[in-house]
Amino acid sequence: MKHILSSEQYNRESLEELFTLADKIRNNMKEYSHKLDDKIIAIMFYEPSTRTRLSFETAALKLGAKIITTENAREFSSAAKGETIQDTVKVIAGYADAMVIRHSSDTSAVEAASVEKIPILNAGAGKGEHPTQALLDMYTIKHKKGKIDGVKVAILGDLLYGRTIHSLIKLLSLYDNVEIYGLSKEAFMLPQEYIDMLKEKGIEYKKCNSFDELPKDIDVIYHTRIQAERFEGDFGKEEFIINKEVLDRFSEHTILMHPLPRVIEISTDVDDDPRACYFEQAHNGLYIRMALLLQVLDRA
Ligand code: CP
Repeated sequence: MKHILSSEQYNRESLEELFTLADKIRNNMKEYSHKLDDKIIAIMFYEPSTRTRLSFETAALKLGAKIITTENAREFSSAAKGETIQDTVKVIAGYADAMVIRHSSDTSAVEAASVEKIPILNAGAGKGEHPTQALLDMYTIKHKKGKIDGVKVAILGDLLYGRTIHSLIKLLSLYDNVEIYGLSKEAFMLPQEYIDMLKEKGIEYKKCNSFDELPKDIDVIYHTRIQAERFEGDFGKEEFIINKEVLDRFSEHTILMHPLPRVIEISTDVDDDPRACYFEQAHNGLYIRMALLLQVLDRA
């Protein structure tokens, strides 16, 4: 059974295969509009979402599938009565052909997949992983930069709880001569296990303390929101805010990415800058998620 649980299940070949399929879909949506006519996709979100839930729902609908969905499964599914994720999946497997899940637990998607009844797609699991976001991020980098080998990427914001960051750096580490720079408040530094993982793959993680320490010709600046819902206490606001003046310190070829939603970390005065590509990035999620649904349901 095919599941999408972690970036760790990908290699360069499977990424290329996914990107090629996403491109084909993007260039000929009509050809794919009945591929999943006989399928039902369950969309179970135990945490808030705009992009991931609605792009998965749109992806399913554009492929001809039907959806059963709960936008607030934490409150309105039987999880509120104490039902386990495994029992929920066993029941949903009687109704649907695949299930997309977002949950506050790092192990939620793996637990759901352990039932082995229907394909599970991890749409964000606690502070652990958000692989489908990272896949669309890599697809966006490939489209914007033309290649991934040799890219210099700065990761900013919440490197501790940011699941998109955790999934993204695992995928970046598959490529040659990638450089990764980290810029965050002390409270939100990248955990050592990820620094060690990068080192094992031959990537020296460069921790920075200011924008001045990032290369001017950096290819990608990837900012993220402080994930305030994941911790108690007050660690203050983001210090490293990208506005026009900051962005103009970097090359005209630098691209500015963000998984969204943003709070204050990217000022709206850069939204019209050609380097800002976070809305295009979010749009790319549709093609990647259509491709993923086709792959897990063996209709690619
Ligand atoms: N990037 C992302 O996961 O956004 P949502 O929380 O809106 O799904």
